[in-house]
Amino acid sequence: MNIVKEKQHICLNFLGIKIKFLNLKKLKYIIYRRYFKSLYINNCIYPIISRRTFMQRCIFSKNKFALKLKKKFLWKVTLFKFLTNAKLEIPVMDFNITNKCTLKCKDCGSLIPFYPEDKKWTITFEDFKKDLDTFLNSVNSIYRMKLIGGEPLMVKDLDLMLEYSLKNKKIKNVEITTNGTILFTDNQLKILNKYRRKALIVLSDYSSNKDLKCLKYEQIINQLDNNKIKFLHPRDNWFERGDIYNRKKDIQSLIKTLKRCWQRDCIALFDGQYHICTRSFAIHRLTDFKFSENEYIDIRISPPPTEKFHKRIRNMFLKDYFSVCSFCQDPSKIRIPRAIQTKELLFIDNT
Ligand SMILES: C[S@@+](CC[C@H](N)C(=O)[O-])C[C@H]1O[C@@H](n2cnc3c(N)ncnc32)[C@H](O)[C@@H]1O
Ligand code: SF4
Ligand code: SF4
Repeated sequence: MNIVKEKQHICLNFLGIKIKFLNLKKLKYIIYRRYFKSLYINNCIYPIISRRTFMQRCIFSKNKFALKLKKKFLWKVTLFKFLTNAKLEIPVMDFNITNKCTLKCKDCGSLIPFYPEDKKWTITFEDFKKDLDTFLNSVNSIYRMKLIGGEPLMVKDLDLMLEYSLKNKKIKNVEITTNGTILFTDNQLKILNKYRRKALIVLSDYSSNKDLKCLKYEQIINQLDNNKIKFLHPRDNWFERGDIYNRKKDIQSLIKTLKRCWQRDCIALFDGQYHICTRSFAIHRLTDFKFSENEYIDIRISPPPTEKFHKRIRNMFLKDYFSVCSFCQDPSKIRIPRAIQTKELLFIDNT
């Protein structure tokens, strides 16, 4: 009898008969690292930080024991759901609604300065609704959905998209991340105010770059304050992103890269495709790099086999490497100044 340990299975070969068991230890490890950590932060910690609900504020922030208990319970439920193929809660998801932008930051995490004019795109409200509905049919809920870009305030129908997502009970929190170069419209402010318990604005602070004369932070903060809309104004230095080219990494290096990546939790929906991150989408759109079948999900196939999507989403969370991570350097702790601009169109090398 010989026993072979594979990624998620243990194969037992007994007198020529092969029996496959789940490698529960490995499976638990991946589920914990790739899914549960993010779920816990977004389900338990994030509401405390953003001070949303009375329950969270009074019980969990003051009582570490209650928080520990909640974590334990959540872990058991999570494991059960994975093992029984149930629909998942998505901890956090970037919904990219455009790759157009008012700035051209050379170290942009979403690789926006790599898109040439003919690859610039903005989602229509019709496609937004269809993609979101298809996705939501395959999951139980989304804790944090971030509307990002490019610059989301350039999108004409942003108010319709906001209202559509904010009123959906399956989405618990909606965020918009903006670079602060465009003011909110009255209608956007009205909607954000109406659903203010669920809405949050992340107003990136690029004022450290003194060359940027187009930043309108004071006016935007006034708009948000006057309409009682919560916002963050983060100013931490950026992470060094490194050059984007195919490093042809082996599997062990790919596992290591993903494990350390600061973007590994920003699962991204982008023009009808569900990817591990916005960089993966950019590499798919801008190069002829061959993705394996289970490394992204095309959610616009018709008719949508929703019952299969939820399994594919689950399987994406069970992966411990993605071949597209070959294009990224091993994440370093080096921090760099925010929003340094480039004038050039940048290129991805896939040779
Ligand atoms: C890709 S941007 C899109 C939204 C908007 N254009 C903006 O700049 O705020 C989303 C977030 O990623 C952050 N970001 C972009 N590049 C980064 C990097 N190299 N390191 C850390 N954060 C980064 C931005 O500051 C922003 O908060
Ligand atoms: S980080 Fe800069 S280039 Fe990238 S989307 Fe935001 S503003 Fe645009
Ligand atoms: S491609 Fe991989 S390493 Fe690069 S940002 Fe995405 S998840 Fe991280």
